[in-house]
Amino acid sequence: MIRYQVPATSANLGIGFDTLGIALNIYDTFEVDFSPEYSLSGFMDDMNPVHNLFLASYKKACRTYEIEPKPIKAILHDDIPCSRGLGSSSAMIVGGIYAAKMLYDIDMSDRDMLKLATEIEGHPDNVAPAILGGLCINHNDITLRKNISDKWHFAIFIPDYEVKTSEARKVLKNEYETSECVNNISAALIAVDALENFNTDNIKVIMNDRIHEPYRKPLIKDYELCKKIAMDKGADAFIISGSGSTMLAISKEKLDIRIKDIEFRNVEIDYEGVKCLKS
Ligand code: HSE
Repeated sequence: MIRYQVPATSANLGIGFDTLGIALNIYDTFEVDFSPEYSLSGFMDDMNPVHNLFLASYKKACRTYEIEPKPIKAILHDDIPCSRGLGSSSAMIVGGIYAAKMLYDIDMSDRDMLKLATEIEGHPDNVAPAILGGLCINHNDITLRKNISDKWHFAIFIPDYEVKTSEARKVLKNEYETSECVNNISAALIAVDALENFNTDNIKVIMNDRIHEPYRKPLIKDYELCKKIAMDKGADAFIISGSGSTMLAISKEKLDIRIKDIEFRNVEIDYEGVKCLKS
């Protein structure tokens, strides 16, 4: 039996649509072993093993390495909420690939895992930090992993409703003005520096997104309320986590906020990514 954990992730970081992502210290923990037949427990769609993203990723990883996958049993202890913009799908994908890697002792580098996971997910900004930890910057098949200044504090606001990424991608425009693209490119470069080097003047540019946030805010009915409270309480930046519904605040001081029907959590950056706990 192998036991391992995959961290939650917060993609986009406002101005870095489909490009930036961080890993957070919230974990899905998997226990996996070979079994006479497939059996899942604790998974959202465990009654439907054919369409289960974890199993599909396990099988795809095996077949990529020309291995005919044997049935497995898997138990999930999940702490990453589903469809909230915290990388729950990425955790399933990385969890499935990691099961194949460990059970068959496949010689698969982090980069190989990332390539496969990105193929399944369609964009790298969640799967990269789920595998590598830290702050990841992605461009095609290049991923840079950075550390964030430990002086920054992060907090998440989790509403009690879902936003499906597939729906949140449908509300985006198909074409963008040159000025909108230039805005995001320049802001993303400055924001990465502000995160790495604790630049408290510049961190606010992370909120200047013009690619996705303006179109997604209406999907999160508590966005304006949470933003106002967070900024009033001392947040330096407030953005949507991934495609929502969770929102992320970045601040110099640790925040302590209570909002009705919103789960507030202080979180830290995970620097390890997917990690074996027992093999
Ligand atoms: N970059 C993706 C999106 C992340 O915003 O659609 C989804 O969590």
